[in-house]
Amino acid sequence: MAKIFPARFLSLGGFNEFELLAFLAECSLGENLFRSVLPIQYSKPLFFLFGSYSDCSNWEVTSNVPLHPASATLVDDAEFRAHLDLVMHEGRMAIPFFPELVSRRFTASESLPAPPSAFSIYSDGQPFYEWLHSPSQTDRNLNFNIAMRGMANTEGIAFLPMDYPFHSLPTEKPIVDVGGGIGTLPMLLLPTLPRHSFLVQDLEPVVKQAHAAPNDSIKQWMAEGKIKFSVQDCFSPQPPEVDGAVFILKNMIHNYSEPKALEILHNLRRKNPFKLLLIDRLVIPQIQSVDSSARLSGSSQRAATMYDLVMASLHGGKNRTLEEWENLLQRADFRLEKIYPLRASTGQAVMEAICA
Ligand SMILES: C[S@@+](CC[C@H](N)C(=O)[O-])C[C@H]1O[C@@H](n2cnc3c(N)ncnc32)[C@H](O)[C@@H]1O
Repeated sequence: MAKIFPARFLSLGGFNEFELLAFLAECSLGENLFRSVLPIQYSKPLFFLFGSYSDCSNWEVTSNVPLHPASATLVDDAEFRAHLDLVMHEGRMAIPFFPELVSRRFTASESLPAPPSAFSIYSDGQPFYEWLHSPSQTDRNLNFNIAMRGMANTEGIAFLPMDYPFHSLPTEKPIVDVGGGIGTLPMLLLPTLPRHSFLVQDLEPVVKQAHAAPNDSIKQWMAEGKIKFSVQDCFSPQPPEVDGAVFILKNMIHNYSEPKALEILHNLRRKNPFKLLLIDRLVIPQIQSVDSSARLSGSSQRAATMYDLVMASLHGGKNRTLEEWENLLQRADFRLEKIYPLRASTGQAVMEAICA
């Protein structure tokens, strides 16, 4: 069987014939075989294994090799494609170094500390977001940001507005979405929150992309003053106008190991948040929420557990158990008040904390 790297295909997007031939030279699939197994949907962008290729409408397909139309079902969904592309492209860079990361953790000493993540072994020490936000990776950064929107659907948190009473949050100040990317969270919540507004904070290259390519809803909300994007490093002091606001960290803290996660939380604690909401994965086999009948089922924990390895590989971060979340919050002078498991998710919950 020919060896094919689907990630490479996806990542190349609409690549040209020259790049294609270079790719074919790299893998052991000959051009003829490639042309014969390729097919499915010529008109659609590339999706493999064996998916389609955007620029092959003039290719003759002769083979009756069994194909995988099911995997092409969502090929028209750019956000879904971006998510797959992220998993297969950046994931493929980091994951092969995971065994080395683990073994170096076991042999680490003061003079030879373990690398922070598998990705940092690949990148020669550069942290993931530093690499992603570098000018040469603008396209990968854009893919990442779109992928974050795609993840909201792929990972099934569409019921978020129903699983936490966001409407009960105060409206006087914008809700601060720390590390909010290009606006995934307000996209999900604003349709059900006519009186609230969001301040979405992220690093400069991301905010630039948020301003450059807002979709129609975001454009309208920006014009109405319901979403503002602002450059804010989550490790730097927050501006005075967010004193006492509600802060949300969605899929943020799992990017960080304990010391860095604590630094972020301590920084927010200085603003005396009205509430701190962590929307993240919570690893525990069964948990009954305080005031709803929702349960995290055992099976929803599989993705949360798997993502622990993804976080370790890319960022040196981790997914946390309930005990770890409680401990982290306590050390940052917060108290975990309630947990709202997200019903249709892959193990996420809203963890509601207040200042201790
Ligand atoms: C996993 S993504 C989550 C994005 C968004 N919260 C969501 O759920 O779709 C993490 C985000 O943190 C941002 N980020 C990374 N380092 C940051 C920093 N030092 N300050 C603020 N944001 C940061 C990244 O640019 C990225 O948008």
